[in-house]
Amino acid sequence: MKIPFNLPSIAGKEIEHIKNAIERGQLAGDGHYSRQCHAWLKEFTGVHASLLTHSCTAALEMASILLDIGPGDEVIMPSFTFVSTASAVALRGGVPVFVDIRPDTLNLDETLIADAITPRTRAISVVHYAGVVAEMDAIGAIARQHDLAVIEDAAHAFGSKYHGRAAGSIGDMAAFSFHETKNIIAGEGGALLLRDATYNERAEIIRDKGTNRQKFFRGQVDKYTWVDIGSSYLPGELIAAFLFGQLEQVHRIQNERMGYWTRYDKALHGYRSQGIGLPNIPSHCTHNAHLYYALMPDCETRQEMIRRLQLEEIFAPFHYVPLHTAPAGRRFGRAASDLAVTDAIAQRLLRLPLYPGMGNDAVDRVIERFGRHLEDIL
Ligand SMILES: Cc1ncc(COP(=O)(O)O)c(C=O)c1O
Repeated sequence: MKIPFNLPSIAGKEIEHIKNAIERGQLAGDGHYSRQCHAWLKEFTGVHASLLTHSCTAALEMASILLDIGPGDEVIMPSFTFVSTASAVALRGGVPVFVDIRPDTLNLDETLIADAITPRTRAISVVHYAGVVAEMDAIGAIARQHDLAVIEDAAHAFGSKYHGRAAGSIGDMAAFSFHETKNIIAGEGGALLLRDATYNERAEIIRDKGTNRQKFFRGQVDKYTWVDIGSSYLPGELIAAFLFGQLEQVHRIQNERMGYWTRYDKALHGYRSQGIGLPNIPSHCTHNAHLYYALMPDCETRQEMIRRLQLEEIFAPFHYVPLHTAPAGRRFGRAASDLAVTDAIAQRLLRLPLYPGMGNDAVDRVIERFGRHLEDIL
């Protein structure tokens, strides 16, 4: 039984919607299905506006433009994240400033943020690792005190909550990913969420090549023209149609994932006493079962576990080469201090397979093989 780490699948009416989009005769962006997705996401998260993008990366790049991040401006963020969190800042000439993470949730350590702030700091970019929302109350308070914007990189956190508030609705703006490895998928895809009206008008312009074409479509100007910098950040209708099919099935998708996540958690719980780290969910966070990870004692045991599982065709990848150690991270960013937790976690973490349609038998096989190898390795 080959068990991939992830396997994208159809959840409902994706194909029907794609066919319908073609029959409607509009394949470019911002047609019927994009509008449906915008309204759906706005309702689901309670934000002022949601705009589809072709990736989370694109939404993060839009956030940097919206905040006018320029040469030398600093944005505080974890190093334990995907490149896009940082490259969106570096693309504007800004400096990603890497701060360590908490050992329990692997999210930005809010107690270290204040020390990383300089006169050049403009924003804090938080990542909700594995769908567990970062400590947004404390982070928001620091941001208000220092007049900084807060960007949520919510690539992992679709459907997660923090004190009952939807991930993506708490910071000034947020980015979702609908990449095929995420909970809700569209192949490649993403969305920029705007908590209030502040950035709405400019976001529409930046997303549409720097033009006021959206105003033209609404009849608010009689011709559209180039008014700001921007790019083509919107997806075509086929992506939006696929995505809408997924959104309609969100509860089924999330419930199925949660079933597998909980099965892993119950079965592996006992290994904590043997020094294996497992996800911690704070009581005020509702997570979305985005991923299940294990923290092995060290890099050697982690690599050995990955190798052994792979020989049995079970794919359990590591996660994140910390950005402060990456060539571009060193060139464009800097670490605010020693990043000891990040360094250790990145050496120890492996992710277990988890995807809709996986089935309990496959989960049980992973659990059984993991346990058996662990006895040998430890
Ligand atoms: C934390 C984080 N941010 C951003 C991204 C980029 O997402 P996308 O592939 O949709 O651009 C990823 C991708 O895995 C991610 O994990």
